[in-house]
Amino acid sequence: MSTTIDSTLNEKRTFTASSDFITKATVNAEKLAILRKAAAEDHEGFWGDLAKEHISWHKPFAALLNSNRAPHYSWYDDGELNVSYNCLDRHLSTRGDKTAIIFEGEPGDTTHITYSELHKNVCVFANALKNQGVKKGDRVIIYMPMIPEAVIAMQACARIGAIHSVVFGGFSAESLKDRIEDTAAKIVITADGGNRGGGVIDLKKAADAALDKGCASVEKVIVYQRTNTDVTMQTGRDIFWNDAIEGMPESCEPEWVNSEHPLFILYTSGSTGKPKGIQHSSGGYLLNSIVTMQWVFDIQDNDVFWCTADVGWITGHSYVAYGPLATGATMLMFEGAPTVPDAGRFWKVCQDHKVTIFYTAPTAIRALMKAGDDFPNAYNLSSLRLLGTVGEPINPEAWMWYHRTIGKEKCPIVDTWWQTETGAHMIAPIPGAMATKPGSCTLPLPGIAADIVDNDGNIIDEPNKGGFLVIKKPWPSMVRTVWGDDDRYQKTYWAEFDNKYYVAGDNVRKDEDGYFWIMGRTDDVLNVSGHRLGTMEIESALVAHPRVAEAAVVGRPHEVKGEAIFAYVVLREERPESGINEELTKELRSWVGEQIGAIAKPDDIRYADNLPKTRSGKIMRRLLKVIARGDEITQDTSTLENEAILDQLQGKS
Ligand code: WT7
Repeated sequence: MSTTIDSTLNEKRTFTASSDFITKATVNAEKLAILRKAAAEDHEGFWGDLAKEHISWHKPFAALLNSNRAPHYSWYDDGELNVSYNCLDRHLSTRGDKTAIIFEGEPGDTTHITYSELHKNVCVFANALKNQGVKKGDRVIIYMPMIPEAVIAMQACARIGAIHSVVFGGFSAESLKDRIEDTAAKIVITADGGNRGGGVIDLKKAADAALDKGCASVEKVIVYQRTNTDVTMQTGRDIFWNDAIEGMPESCEPEWVNSEHPLFILYTSGSTGKPKGIQHSSGGYLLNSIVTMQWVFDIQDNDVFWCTADVGWITGHSYVAYGPLATGATMLMFEGAPTVPDAGRFWKVCQDHKVTIFYTAPTAIRALMKAGDDFPNAYNLSSLRLLGTVGEPINPEAWMWYHRTIGKEKCPIVDTWWQTETGAHMIAPIPGAMATKPGSCTLPLPGIAADIVDNDGNIIDEPNKGGFLVIKKPWPSMVRTVWGDDDRYQKTYWAEFDNKYYVAGDNVRKDEDGYFWIMGRTDDVLNVSGHRLGTMEIESALVAHPRVAEAAVVGRPHEVKGEAIFAYVVLREERPESGINEELTKELRSWVGEQIGAIAKPDDIRYADNLPKTRSGKIMRRLLKVIARGDEITQDTSTLENEAILDQLQGKS
């Protein structure tokens, strides 16, 4: 980590919400000033007051922040609560008949589920889990399509104090196996299949393949029938969801857990080969998901909130499975791809269900922008009042298209910076209280001490000077540890600046108004379509192929995906002439798909006799990045052991 970027981006436009939006907003400028002042005066007390206000505690807490085991922090750790109770039970008397979930499947089937129904379904399934032997603290893997049952499964785990780990349905059997084994999960909840991209994804088949490879901890597999495709059921191990819930009682006393009890583990990529299991708490996590629903999304009783993220990502945890329900909102869940049957699908869903708040990733915005304005213009988008983005920097051009063509210039856009590790939005606009700028995630939220430091850990005050994004004070929804690898937790997030700051791994600058502009990662992590992938992870997958001797993976800018995956491969056999071998490239791409998942397939593979290395054997990645972009090499290459290889890599020899 040693880059400092002086940014050249110079975006000056600012936008403010309409007076109508501001009048109705939960947080206006005056309220925001009060929040900021309270947070500045008493950081812990600020978060303590919010935790009292927004969470229904079974046993009230007295403790606020506990730093005794720094850099391990805990919050409210003498309090007891249940997250599912906070998402469901507490709404029953006031909103029992309100729609909690509007679901639309990819084939077009729709369902509405009220809070009372959802509560009942969660209780029934929680009892089924208990009946299958799941106890407080047990790990449960959820490998499901984007259907209400995925949320029901997560909520049911929360209800009985089981720790869920959701694995994105697009991950391969191999990835699933790694996560099952790392968590030593007792139960896997999956489905026969899910509808995606016009076809069916065979989840149970992948789960079977994972279980065939090991996974000795797994006792039971619960299978929801979504696509009614044929599945093989292993006697004694596998049970259909409908059979598992048969005769289960409709009420289930919540398991009251300590505020620090792990709610879930979610794997995310880092600098090394294996993804890390980010462990989140119950009380602190819940609090930030609630306050950000209110501050950033301005969630109100008559809203229809749609976050397009899959439950397999953190966004689908905080803004599908927990935040919307904890705030008693109506949310939409959509099973499919944005382009099925055509690129108008998202806009049709917005129209048909009168979506008011729409939250998606820049990659989706860019892809839909490319498809042309005829698609959005064919639908009535007048219900929309607020738009959001997450996952990667949004380029001003895509921001303006979103603003004009989707928001009709009347919807504020909240560009939300956060991470799997932060649990909830950290740097984001409060739309009724401040101006936005295209491409900036704006300012840190109240109580979030985000800042920028140089290589030595000194705060950078100078505007537009790039540095490392750090968080200077603990916040309730912060990562607690890396499951099974606490050392990695300390090294990855704290060691860089002697445990003083949480290090996010992003490069960022602040402009003259203090607005934050994210400029990319400082580590070997790629952001492909808003998803984090470790270059090492992809390299390990490539090297596992019998024909591959060595591999180096870098990112290259991509118009729609943000970053594309570029792999340099040294074979165990003769290098193909011209450095290209389409047949083998096809094979390696599908190999990586099997090892990790389709999102990790390299976009380009170039074959070489060797990789550019220093005399000590370190691969010079920055040179590989330059070549992948097709740029001329201007750096000094004299320290290379094999300078001549550069010509070959550039296709010059
Ligand atoms: C990384 C975290 C948080 C949910 C989705 C991704 C990048 C995230 C933004 C944004 C610029 C962003 C960062 C961050 N990122 N949001 N609004 N602007 N970059 O979660 O997989 O944990 O990835 O995504 O690089 O570190 P994740």
